[in-house]
Amino acid sequence: MFSFNLLPWALVALTPALVAAIGDPFGQAAGTTGGGSATPATPSSNAELEEWLSDSTARVIVLDSIFDFTGTEGTTTGTACAPWTCSPDPQLAIDSNSWCENYQPDATTSTVTYDSAGPSPLVVGSNKTLLGSGSNGGIKGKGLKITDGSNIIIQNIKITDINAQYVWGGDALQIDGGSNIWIDHNYFQHIGRQMVVTGYGAVTKTTFSNNVFNGEGTYSATCNGRHYWVGLFLGGGDQITFALNYLYKTSGRGPHVGGTDGYYQDVHIYNNYFVDIEGHAIDAGVGAKVLAEGNYFNTVTTPLLEDDGEAYVPSSDEVSACSATIGRTCVANTFTSSGTPSTNVANALAGFTDSVSEGATILTAQEAADYVQANAGVGIVN
Ligand SMILES: *[C@@H]1O[C@H](CO)[C@@H](O)[C@H](O)[C@H]1NC(C)=O
Repeated sequence: MFSFNLLPWALVALTPALVAAIGDPFGQAAGTTGGGSATPATPSSNAELEEWLSDSTARVIVLDSIFDFTGTEGTTTGTACAPWTCSPDPQLAIDSNSWCENYQPDATTSTVTYDSAGPSPLVVGSNKTLLGSGSNGGIKGKGLKITDGSNIIIQNIKITDINAQYVWGGDALQIDGGSNIWIDHNYFQHIGRQMVVTGYGAVTKTTFSNNVFNGEGTYSATCNGRHYWVGLFLGGGDQITFALNYLYKTSGRGPHVGGTDGYYQDVHIYNNYFVDIEGHAIDAGVGAKVLAEGNYFNTVTTPLLEDDGEAYVPSSDEVSACSATIGRTCVANTFTSSGTPSTNVANALAGFTDSVSEGATILTAQEAADYVQANAGVGIVN
C-alpha cells in the first residue's frame, strides 16, 4: 500500500505553519532557497509588492489576499485579429508588434479594448520567496516575469484573470533565463496567453511541481471552453522538472517543448495528472528531449502530439528500454479513455543521464493520480 509519508515533499503536511517556503524543492530545483531566512512580510499595496519583488534585497514576501491589478493602468484600445474562426467565443489576438500583419494577414480585424495591466508583468528579481498564505493569496490581472534570475521560489500563489479573451493579453509566468527556480503549489486560470513560458534564455535547475493548470474558461483558441496556451518551454538549454502537476480542461501545449531551430531543452515530465483534455497534452517540437513517465492521462484526446522533437512516453511494455540509457527502467504512463503515443523516440532518453533524472523518485501513475488530486494547488502547504 502506497504511503504519502514516503515522499520527502509530502512531509510538509506534517510541518507546523511556517512562513518560509514549505517543503524541499526536488528535481532540478533541489537546493533552491529563495529569500531564505529573510523576515517574512506582507506588502501593504500593489506598489509595495512591485518594489519588493524587483529590488535586490533577499525577501520572503507573503500574500494573504489577492493583489488585484485589474484596471490599475487603465485600458488600451487597438486592433485585434481573428486567427481562429471557430465558435463559440474564439480568442482574438491583440496586434502586438504587428503580429497580425506578419502572421495572420488574411484574418478579419476589429477594434478592441483590453486591460493595460495584463501585458506588463511584475518583475521578479533573485533571492525571493513569494508565498501565499491560506488558499487565497495571489495576483490578479497581471503576471510575473523573471529575467536571468536565480534562487526564486513561488509557492501557494493564485495567478488569474489576465485579459483571458485576448492572445497577447499577458502571460501568468514568464522566465527568460534563470536557474534555481521552484514553482510549486500554484494555481493558474483565465490567462490570455501562456500560463507558464520560458523565453530563449536558458532556464536550468528549475522545477514546476504540484501546480494546478485549470483551463476552463469562456474564451478559447479552440472554441471548446478550454485553454490552449498552458506551458511552453523554448529556451536554449532549458533543464526542467515538471512533476505532480494537475492539468484539466485544457486543449493544447500541456506542455509544448521546443520548436525553434538551434535551441534545445530537456524536460522530465513525471507523475502529472492530465484529465479532460480535448486536444493535446505534450508536444515536443524541434530541439526538445522529453521523458514522460508515471503520468496518468485520463480522457485526453492526444497525450503526445506528433511533432519534430524527441519524446519518450512509455507504456508498460516500453519501460525496459530506458535501462540502457538511464540505468533504470522507466515508470509506465497510464492511458485511460485516451489516445496513445504513436511516435516514441528512444533517443530522447539521452537528455536524462544526469543524477537528478536517473535518481528521481517516481510514483506509479495510479499513485500519482491519487496524490495530485489531493495535494496540488493552493491551500495545501500553508
Ligand atoms: C543573491 O544571493 C547571493 C548569495 O547571498 C548573492 O551572492 C547574490 O549577489 C544575490 N543576488 C542578488 C541579485 O542580490
